[in-house]
Amino acid sequence: MSQKAEIDQARKWIVEAKAITVLTGAGISADSGVPTFRGDGGLWRKYRAEDLATPEAFADNPKLVWEWYDWRRRQLAGKRPNPGHIALTEMERRSSGFTLITQNVDGLHDLAGSRLPLKLHGDIWNLRCTDCSARSVNRETPLKRLPPLCDCGALLRPDIVWFGESLPQDVLEEAWSRACAADLFLVVGTSALVQPAASLPLLARERGARLVEINQQKTPLTAHADIALFGTAGDLLPALVTL
Ligand code: OAD
Repeated sequence: MSQKAEIDQARKWIVEAKAITVLTGAGISADSGVPTFRGDGGLWRKYRAEDLATPEAFADNPKLVWEWYDWRRRQLAGKRPNPGHIALTEMERRSSGFTLITQNVDGLHDLAGSRLPLKLHGDIWNLRCTDCSARSVNRETPLKRLPPLCDCGALLRPDIVWFGESLPQDVLEEAWSRACAADLFLVVGTSALVQPAASLPLLARERGARLVEINQQKTPLTAHADIALFGTAGDLLPALVTL
């Protein structure tokens, strides 16, 4: 099938679907100028995740870890949602059963207007107290104090899931159930290498959903997809929601 025919087919499935679940990864924000993690120029090519995104690294040197997150927050502060993010809000508006699950912590789905995306890996704009667990939204860039402190005096941390940590149970359960309920599962811009997120599309597939993938290159999911569209999310997602 030509890519045009595949886009037409996927668009038809989207219109017919009763329950659409979408999983996004860093690739959807690449068109907004946000670096991904594993590709060329990816963050984990330049930095060692174990030095910066683990509870051990934070316990060892909270200031260093915070300097890195402050840098990422400053980098993200000027970024805007791209046509891929916007197309998903349009898909949500047109569908009765729509769920957006994201691995991204950048907040761009919120800025685009997505309603309550399920954030599997947390949100870089939310802080959490390491002692009293109080949570707060904080968009200050740069942060005035590094590392930032809670009103109770304890260290605040980014409300992000680090390597070696569990995902928030309620969010994961909801994502799991939305994957099971989907009759169309759309997976966008993820290398599908990080669990448990990478299992969601396969779970949906096993439960009978059609699987459509958008990525610039092949992933471990590609062989399982009913349709794999190669290109950028910023080009392909708008093509899937045009009338
Ligand atoms: P990766 O960096 O692993 O993968 C990004 C994927 O996006 C790759 O498969 C690229 O081919 C694809 N891609 C790049 N640009 C694209 C574009 N313009 N349009 C479509 N696809 C594009 O990012 P994730 O899979 O999201 O964890 O990584 C998963 C998790 O690993 C992240 O959530 C992060 C990281 O450690 C935390 O922050 C906790």
